[in-house]
Amino acid sequence: RLTCVIPAGGVGSRLWPLSRANAPKFLLDLTGSGDSLLRATWDRLRPIAPPERIIVVTGNAHRESVAEQLPELVQANLVTESEPKDSSAAIGLAAALLELRDPDAILGSFAADHVIRGDVLFQRAVATAARAADQGYIVTIGIHPSHPATGFGYIACGGSRGDIAQFDLYGVTEFVEKPDAEKAREYLEHGGYLWNAGMFIARASVLLDRMAESEPELVRALREIAAAWGTDRGAEVRERLWPSLPKIAIDYTVAEPAAAAGDMLCVAAHFDWDDVGDFASVANLLTRGRGSDLAVLGDGAQVLSDASSGIVVSDSDRLVALVGMEDVVVVDTADVLLVTSKRRAQDVKNLVNRMKGSG
Ligand code: GDD
Ligand code: MG
Repeated sequence: RLTCVIPAGGVGSRLWPLSRANAPKFLLDLTGSGDSLLRATWDRLRPIAPPERIIVVTGNAHRESVAEQLPELVQANLVTESEPKDSSAAIGLAAALLELRDPDAILGSFAADHVIRGDVLFQRAVATAARAADQGYIVTIGIHPSHPATGFGYIACGGSRGDIAQFDLYGVTEFVEKPDAEKAREYLEHGGYLWNAGMFIARASVLLDRMAESEPELVRALREIAAAWGTDRGAEVRERLWPSLPKIAIDYTVAEPAAAAGDMLCVAAHFDWDDVGDFASVANLLTRGRGSDLAVLGDGAQVLSDASSGIVVSDSDRLVALVGMEDVVVVDTADVLLVTSKRRAQDVKNLVNRMKGSG
């Protein structure tokens, strides 16, 4: 029996000005389906778990939007943070709460902001992962890499583990979170490396014990917060401990050390997976790789184009007119107009950082 956790934090700064502090990436519809990425994640998980076994961890500020988008979410399973402390704390808190409900509980953590196509293949991969997690392993899901991306974790796969599952399950010899460009190229040339899809499946207690080896204070605090959760002391304990928690991704506290210790397995995925990190990925997703097309995103977007490709995202009622623009990115919101190219779409993040820097 698997309990699903959806950590929903992080703004997605490469998608600015569509993504904002009050409109983080997971609350956006980036596929034109009418559903946010979070809603799509929920719908994908529902065949795997009933609402009682789906937990969402998000910031206080997003409590209402999340509840609105997920009316079926059980109140007690909407866990909120007073400030973001990255994925170790977010997933770790859910694990600590779960461990108290059931000491043998298996937890599957699924990012809130990815696009996946092929639900049946996804469910099969998760079922295989859960079987391996039941044997005490920490299991990730691996995606065949298409280019030397530096924004993903890389998983070095070893021998097949046919003793646990017949297909697609491998031992992991190394996990490297976000390598530099040179390393990423090396991994791709070498072969045998998969991208980490940002999903972790493990017994809740196994995950926490692993985390405790590098971050004992963090795990002690999370277990203390969980123990007081829902009691009179709940709020007091949480407010006292949360601000001092270290801000660190679970890839460093759990994935890298588990792989080094030989306690990690990986399921090779057959479903389509995209982390839609920037507008170039959004464009590619919408045109399904037909680079010569112009993708349009936004209800009622009005676009007039001649010999242009790329993407127009429109939140305004202005007419956007393009002539002879190749691989352009235009994002028109009420207060900000962004113009860049697909090639430089990654660098939007630099602008956002610069604005943060200047206060
Ligand atoms: N509640 C909460 N609070 N959730 C958080 C927080 C936080 O402070 N920080 C991150 N998250 C959530 C994100 O919303 C997302 O669902 C998940 O945790 C992963 O965090 P990201 O910040 O998106 O990580 P990343 O994309 O840089 O890297 C991770 O995902 C890649 C795949 O997209 C890593 O796991 C990589 O190894 C992986 O390749
Ligand atoms: Mg991400």
